[in-house]
Amino acid sequence: MHSTTTKSLRSGGVIERYRGFLPVSPATPIISLGEGNTPLIYSPRLSERVRRAVFIKNEGVNPTGSFKDRGMTVAVSRAIERGATALICASTGNTSASAAAYAARAGISCVVILPAGKIATGKLLQAFAYGAKIVAIDGNFDDALRIVRELGETGDFAIVNSINPDRIAGQKTAAFEIVDELGDAPDFHLLPVGNAGNITAYWAGYREYVARERSTKCPSMLGFQAIGAAPIFYDRIIDKPETIASAIRIGNPASWKQARAAIADSRGAIDMVSDEEILFAQSWLAQHEGIFVEPASAASIAGLFKWCDSEDAVHSFQKIREASRIVCTVTGHGLKDPDAIIRRMNELKPVAATVADVRRAIEL
Ligand code: F0G
Repeated sequence: MHSTTTKSLRSGGVIERYRGFLPVSPATPIISLGEGNTPLIYSPRLSERVRRAVFIKNEGVNPTGSFKDRGMTVAVSRAIERGATALICASTGNTSASAAAYAARAGISCVVILPAGKIATGKLLQAFAYGAKIVAIDGNFDDALRIVRELGETGDFAIVNSINPDRIAGQKTAAFEIVDELGDAPDFHLLPVGNAGNITAYWAGYREYVARERSTKCPSMLGFQAIGAAPIFYDRIIDKPETIASAIRIGNPASWKQARAAIADSRGAIDMVSDEEILFAQSWLAQHEGIFVEPASAASIAGLFKWCDSEDAVHSFQKIREASRIVCTVTGHGLKDPDAIIRRMNELKPVAATVADVRRAIEL
């Protein structure tokens, strides 16, 4: 018979690996899909560019293709422990895909409230595939989250957005994994920022590892928003956020204050990148490092380029120690959001099935 007790790190999931750091007890039923333990990939071409060691934490290889699964395993396990029979979330796509999968795994229902017409194809498809009850609203993510907060108060649903502290607790395990692999924290950590839960979670994880003497330092946290959706950068609510990176199309982030604290306490920064920079970084990463991510994820890579090309000292890696180590989190898999690239695929025209025609088409 197949053994369920001898599990690899991967199939065990983040609760099994980091139980002592998470809000679970022996009584908590573990709802897991083997999330976490994602690759931290040394990136030679990015490192060459920055002349510092750059690593990519590839969260796109989680079970539903994004970092959300780390927090979802904890949030759903705890919700089941408390007797929940239905989950609810607002989402720009990835949270809903993850919530729907973990609800299916737990055998409970899941309601997802989404901004109509603004969810990337792959993510919406996931919510359908996992059997969620999907409601599209004429509004943006911020409207959806407002509705979810109200519905959550009725007690009929367990909210699994990152306003649920169990989500943040689960997501901090990504910082633990990075330290466990590098032997200490990196000097800089770059990541995209939308609702600001993830930057909050990483910062909590890094601090906790110092407190528990697993590491000697914390990195500076550098968060990147899209230019049309940069409320934290401008320090004001953006009523109509716009960006091609639909995952981070958010004008009023729930964890705004926590993100500000993480940036200030880590001597980091919040910055923004344009849609053009995001799409360039997405293609560059796929074609030079073999890592295909969704546009929102490429914001951290666009940020890295900005910070290595800039003359401005506040935005420059050229001034830091050469031995510095930099980690960029890429948050979601490229296949989730194929629309921008599908347009290029339409250029593909078939040729006759002969060696001569194929050779001509290769143009070599
Ligand atoms: N990258 C991706 C791929 C995301 O889906 C999100 C957020 C972020 C970055 C930003 O993370 O919100 O913690 O600052 N997606 C949420 C969702 C909002 O509904 O899937 P954050």
